[in-house]
Amino acid sequence: MGFTSMCLLPLLFLLPVFATSRLHPPPILFPSATIQSLTQKSKSANHTKVPFTTHFFPQQLDHFTFKPQASRVFYQKYLMHATHWDKGPTHTAPIFVYTGNEGNIEWFAENTGFMFDIAPKFRALLVFIEHRFYGESKPFGKDSYKSAETLGYLTSTQALADFAILIRSLKQNLSAEASPVVVFGGSYGGMLAAWFRLKYPHVAIGALAASAPILQFDDIVPWSSFYDAVSRDFEVESTNCFQVIKESWDDLMAVADKKGGMSQLTKTFRACKKVKSVYSVRNWLSAAFVYTAMVDYPIQASFMMPLPAYPVKEMCRIIDGFPSGVDRLTKVFSAASLYYNYSGANSCFEIEGNSDPHGLNGWDWQACTEMVMPMTISNGSMFTEFTFDYKEFEEDCKFQYGVLPRPHWITTEYGGNKIELVLKRYGSNIIFSNGMRDPWSRGGVLKNISSSIIALVTQLGAHHLDFRSATKDDPKWLTEQREAEIKILQGWIDQYYKDSSELSKT
Ligand SMILES: *[C@@H]1O[C@H](CO)[C@@H](O)[C@H](O)[C@H]1NC(C)=O
Ligand SMILES: *[C@@H]1O[C@H](CO)[C@@H](O)[C@H](O)[C@H]1NC(C)=O
Ligand SMILES: *[C@@H]1O[C@H](CO)[C@@H](O)[C@H](O)[C@H]1NC(C)=O
Ligand SMILES: *[C@@H]1O[C@H](CO)[C@@H](O)[C@H](O)[C@H]1NC(C)=O
Ligand SMILES: *[C@@H]1O[C@H](CO)[C@@H](O)[C@H](O)[C@H]1NC(C)=O
Repeated sequence: MGFTSMCLLPLLFLLPVFATSRLHPPPILFPSATIQSLTQKSKSANHTKVPFTTHFFPQQLDHFTFKPQASRVFYQKYLMHATHWDKGPTHTAPIFVYTGNEGNIEWFAENTGFMFDIAPKFRALLVFIEHRFYGESKPFGKDSYKSAETLGYLTSTQALADFAILIRSLKQNLSAEASPVVVFGGSYGGMLAAWFRLKYPHVAIGALAASAPILQFDDIVPWSSFYDAVSRDFEVESTNCFQVIKESWDDLMAVADKKGGMSQLTKTFRACKKVKSVYSVRNWLSAAFVYTAMVDYPIQASFMMPLPAYPVKEMCRIIDGFPSGVDRLTKVFSAASLYYNYSGANSCFEIEGNSDPHGLNGWDWQACTEMVMPMTISNGSMFTEFTFDYKEFEEDCKFQYGVLPRPHWITTEYGGNKIELVLKRYGSNIIFSNGMRDPWSRGGVLKNISSSIIALVTQLGAHHLDFRSATKDDPKWLTEQREAEIKILQGWIDQYYKDSSELSKT
């Protein structure tokens, strides 16, 4: 993940928690390593199950200045699924747009089966727009991540403007100006969808924001809530499981301190290459627990990694299943193997090492500029305690990119503090869906704000679970959550048609 570049290596050894977490306190919505492997996978994947056509739109580099470079063009990728689109005689069937997040757009399209499931009912056109600087939408090609000179154009405000411009152009080209647009997004994409509705109400009539932690900024939610939530997921499965994981970190450090300890860890953790830093092992283990909590789906799925249904329960079953006397590291290693090796295809694990030669990737930049989500780890969690030190974070960002983070920019630009009070009288037509098994839910909107800014919360849901395709194994509460979403969407669209027909009468 991100910061294993040579120049930063000495810093990693000082880190009290994840090597990566100091630079971007959230364990990243999606780790770059996962994105890379998924990108590779999706290139060879059989796309016929989600049929879409691929397009490129000449997008302007900078929407907010008129400097000479601003009008430079790059090609922004978008996908369309028009199978069910019926413009009708009045050209008014809706357009559902997925506001892409930090990864290649095919990956999000493939994991947002919900939109494909509902397209026939709404006779909707589906459009998935790739976020600038990800996938193939890189404004400076291979050099896009080179420095702040190029990365400076990677901001959420530029991304939202991209979406608005592309949507307007597309509607014009399709003679679909009268079609209502609803934006959809999950995770960071959900944050973008919600913000898009607030910033561009004339372009989108509503937003469905799934697992969107728009309140994970400043001190709106307790900084320890994310890791506490991960820990609760494990603790409610089994206190023994929680306790074994919690106590394993000291065991890990103790082994590392012994003579020949690193060789022992290399062996225990079946590392492909000799492990150099105990912190890499800690990261590797922590990442398995954090990501499994995020995708603790009630059905078998392959979002981050292929996993069985209820993977947290499965991990705890592995830990609890060992006879007494077995050491904790063996237990936690086996549990983590569920995450890394459920497919059984790995002969060893890449605990260290990163294929990103610059140690740079888009989300790290975003976390070092706008997306400052402070996180701490409390002693009540199953992880090692960690205090967020803003000064250190700032220095790391300055060192890595030569930029200073703007920790209060997001809440200044989009709001967030006292969101209920603000959005009660301003804004409408946003669904915030969350599943409480997902640690990101703690930074989400979990309460209804007004009659049209609605929170749909499931206790057993996980990271944008509602966006996955319906399956025959779906529990009732999941089907009900999706049905509630469909009903609300239908209401917005009906209202829009009603409003427009009244307007055309006058
Ligand atoms: C993709 O899947 C479809 C339907 O399952 C199949 O007919 C087709 O041969 C597959 N194509 C490739 C390249 O695997
Ligand atoms: C709309 O058409 C114009 C002219 O052909 C083209 O340049 C533009 O890329 C199209 N817009 C979209 C969103 O594809
Ligand atoms: C991954 O799982 C397979 C099948 O269970 C097993 O043979 C293999 O040893 C595992 N890999 C590692 C590195 O543990
Ligand atoms: C955890 O931290 C709290 C607050 O700092 C402290 O009161 C408590 O004693 C600590 N508990 C343990 C088990 O260290
Ligand atoms: C918000 O209101 C809807 C009904 O409009 C209800 O179904 C839902 O449970 C409410 N959400 C919360 C978190 O209370």
